[in-house]
Amino acid sequence: MTTKVDTSKWDQAASLQEALPAIWEALQGKVDRMIGQLGNKSPHVAKADGIYDDMRLDWWTAGFWPGILWIMHEMTGKDHYKEAAWGWDEKFEQKTIQDNNFHHDVGFQFLPTSVIKYKLTGDKDGKRRGLAAANFLAGRFNIAGSFLRAWNQEKIGWSIVDSSMNLSILFWAAQEINDPRFELIARAHADTVVDKFIREDGSVNHILSFNPRTGELIESLGGQGAGPHSSWSRGAAWALHGMANTYRYTGDTRYLRAAQRVAHYFLSCLPEDYVAHWDFRAADPLDGEPRDTSAASCAASGLLELADALPGIEGAMYRRAAERMLLALTKHYGTWDNPAHEGILIGGTGNKPAGQNVDVSLIYGDYYYVEALAKLLGWKSRIF
Ligand code: GLY
Repeated sequence: MTTKVDTSKWDQAASLQEALPAIWEALQGKVDRMIGQLGNKSPHVAKADGIYDDMRLDWWTAGFWPGILWIMHEMTGKDHYKEAAWGWDEKFEQKTIQDNNFHHDVGFQFLPTSVIKYKLTGDKDGKRRGLAAANFLAGRFNIAGSFLRAWNQEKIGWSIVDSSMNLSILFWAAQEINDPRFELIARAHADTVVDKFIREDGSVNHILSFNPRTGELIESLGGQGAGPHSSWSRGAAWALHGMANTYRYTGDTRYLRAAQRVAHYFLSCLPEDYVAHWDFRAADPLDGEPRDTSAASCAASGLLELADALPGIEGAMYRRAAERMLLALTKHYGTWDNPAHEGILIGGTGNKPAGQNVDVSLIYGDYYYVEALAKLLGWKSRIF
């Protein structure tokens, strides 16, 4: 029989550190239960009923649930997580053959499946699939505009800030086969993120449209934020985390400073409880606007990269901010009181302008929450 989790250990906690072992233990129980609840589903969104949907396997979010399982496997050494995670990349590969809807997000799909599987087990198929995904992503590079193309069909000159997170598969491939082409493409796109996506004040554009032949920047498009010049918080989280990762791979402080610029802006926009609203410029004041717990968890994990990158007082400041965000997520957005709920966090906002998935559980919010807590507990591998 499943019982509610005893949350008293963190309800009263003044800091995340004192509650971390209890939170992690509860999280393991939660993920164990999710294995049974989710079965073969590819979860993306759980609405008010707490039941995750079963999304297409070539949807951008399909890697996050297996990614949670791989982190759990590495953190605990328990094989049932590995067994549940094992087959996902083979299923993705079938989709590349059947109906190729893959695009800029292959990093989100193949890093938490093929690549981490290869890193942890030496599985040759994982390596092969990861390299194929990196090749596919590299082939989307537009030389004129120095950007990775977003999506398919007519959006030929579009690029999006989310791709900051997909760069890791290019850096991994460059290291894996000692071929700098992949790194050069990743760096070229990252330079475009720094120069064009991240604004002077540290807020970010979601979608930029370029002339695909000349590379000229045409305009900023609204995308999932409130408008073209608004400040979509998950976009900021993608840039923060992605540029912090890019610094880890390259050692180039240009990317570190870019990540810090976004981090400082992000932190300056947070409400009292430290859980981001979905767009920092959606309204003034923001009080009635929905939160986005996925922006919060992704940013927290990115802040922990900055904490690792910067010793001393500066790094400690980022760590404290991440811990504050994670404690707030744990206390106020965890599904601990409802064992039947298939998500870990509620309060995610998927795409508010499209009227889709507001105040829901999002599998990527769950993933980055697990990733961030694992980092705080000393997890040294990296998926992104
Ligand atoms: N990559 C799409 C999103 O962040 O919702």
